[in-house]
Amino acid sequence: MERTLVISKPDALQRGLVGEIIRRFERKGIKIVAMKMMRFDEALLREHYAHHVDKHFFSELSEFMRSSPVVVFVLEGPGAVEMVRKIAGTSADDLGSIRGDFSSGVPQNIIHSSDSAETAKKEIQLFFQMNEIFDYKKDEWKHVFSEFDE
Ligand code: PPS
Repeated sequence: MERTLVISKPDALQRGLVGEIIRRFERKGIKIVAMKMMRFDEALLREHYAHHVDKHFFSELSEFMRSSPVVVFVLEGPGAVEMVRKIAGTSADDLGSIRGDFSSGVPQNIIHSSDSAETAKKEIQLFFQMNEIFDYKKDEWKHVFSEFDE
């Protein structure tokens, strides 16, 4: 089953939006299989945003991401990567999405989510040990996903 990584960013914690983020994924039927609060250090940040370390905005992004703790999640479900990206939204203009409803731009854009299944695998390994990820049955899935087959 597909998994993806979500980071509820420092602005979400400061603005009391962590519960709202969880609620949006839960009500769509996505399964939470791991969750923890942590604080980024420079090394983890550089690894997670490895493709962006040379970009002009990296120092601003780095300062922002270390300004408060974050909450990281592994979410699971059929097509989880794409579904989570849609719910998160790509920009503040995406009304109805998390970013569209709560953010006004970068770097305060509330949420990070993996951009592909391949990236998700790497990101999940970076933030979680195998024993921190839970395998369990979500009984409602047969009512949520038509293609779901136990
Ligand atoms: S790029 O250049 O198109 O590859 O960048 P993009 O995918 O849009 O963004 C990469 C991550 O950097 C964040 N970002 C910024 N942070 C601070 N300041 C500025 N100007 C800025 N622009 C982009 C953006 O939110 C992405 O982080 P994540 O955590 O993946 O959302």
